[in-house]
Amino acid sequence: MTVACEYRPGLEGVPATQSSISFVDGTHGILEYRGIGIEELAKKSNFLETAYLLIWGELPTKDELYEFEHEIRYHRRLKYRIRDMMKCFPESGHPMDALQACAAALGLFYSRRALDDPAYIRAAVVRLLAKIPTMVAAFQLMRKGNDPIQPRDDLDYSANFLYMLTEREPDPLAAKIFDTGLILHAEHTINASTFSAMVTASTLTDPYAVIASAVGTLAGPLHGGASEEVILMLEEIGSVENVRPFVESALENRSKIMGFGHRVYKVKDPRAIILQQLAEQLFEKFGRDDYYDIAVELEKVVQEKLGHKGIYPNVDFYSGLVYRKLGIPSDLFTPVFAISRVAGWLAHWKEQLNENRIFRPTQIYTGFRGATYVPIEQRRSVGDKELLATLVGDLKP
Ligand code: CMC
Repeated sequence: MTVACEYRPGLEGVPATQSSISFVDGTHGILEYRGIGIEELAKKSNFLETAYLLIWGELPTKDELYEFEHEIRYHRRLKYRIRDMMKCFPESGHPMDALQACAAALGLFYSRRALDDPAYIRAAVVRLLAKIPTMVAAFQLMRKGNDPIQPRDDLDYSANFLYMLTEREPDPLAAKIFDTGLILHAEHTINASTFSAMVTASTLTDPYAVIASAVGTLAGPLHGGASEEVILMLEEIGSVENVRPFVESALENRSKIMGFGHRVYKVKDPRAIILQQLAEQLFEKFGRDDYYDIAVELEKVVQEKLGHKGIYPNVDFYSGLVYRKLGIPSDLFTPVFAISRVAGWLAHWKEQLNENRIFRPTQIYTGFRGATYVPIEQRRSVGDKELLATLVGDLKP
């Protein structure tokens, strides 16, 4: 088979799709959803309106938004069988694994697959946006040994999530800031989890499997899992004085500093700029976080040492400080990211269906050819290529 272009590890710079959902300019720090700058959406929109914009391509009218919010409110509850299933999960399990299992389980309950029926698409969008926050909050309460609490219809999307999570009605500023955080994480072109969603979608499987694949991909520490790692790192650094030695030692050992660097951005991520402002607003009202000074010093030292390589804070660097101040445990940071990114995944699922062709790239084969099967008694070691070559004879790569 001939290869159409050179191999690029991590598909860096290789266009894998055409999309009109979001736009990133990594040199100038620009992110737009359907052409609207993220800064404007963060100031003026709310998460559900932004989700509607991403999924249906334009801002909703007042009536459309009302109806969409109303449907989501109606679908927030979980079937008792899903709650029962969650009760069997180990308390020590990671909430991202619980979320992936629950998202996939929705496919069991809504098994009809009618990908060319707009009503089916709408129902899947509504169910996933409505139920994923309830799953995250329910797992949090259950792993503490408590029953999950029911959603409250008088609370909006974000306030209701914080209520279900903490069992207290949140402060309005806290709920507003959380909602803005959801807007900022909702979509980001063809990142790893979105690509994973698109590949799964391209097989024409059901939307719950699409979202479950994406949740599993988001969980990794090089992707959404980084926000949790950032807090662990700030904890390990422990003080402003330790920042410089920490960075020097990390660079000497060639280990990555979490919350920094991005395949696309070569300047500070525009979302990190807004998240830092949100963190400061929270500190003003609810008191400063000890880790904030460490984080600011870390940004300064990393910029000094790695700025020339275009390594700056990414979205995950300040998000953890915002969530921490909102009382969210660090292993829920990535599930909260998922609550938001569901909007982008669903937008790409819908876009993929509009002009679908199954993803089936090629590869450059680097293994042996024409090998013979070696009877088990004659095998001495596996994984040792030289030894294998002597056993199987003249193998041509
Ligand atoms: N700390 C130290 N050095 C870094 C970092 C970092 N965080 N990120 C990149 N570099 C260096 C890397 O060592 C390499 O240097 P050299 O060319 O000398 O070998 C160069 O920059 C390019 O790095 P890369 O790993 O090849 O870049 P990539 O585009 O493949 O990876 C990344 C991007 C985000 C995975 C990477 O920057 C990273 O691992 N960052 C830390 C984890 C993190 O914060 N992830 C969140 C990503 S943003 C939001 C999201 O996706 O959820």
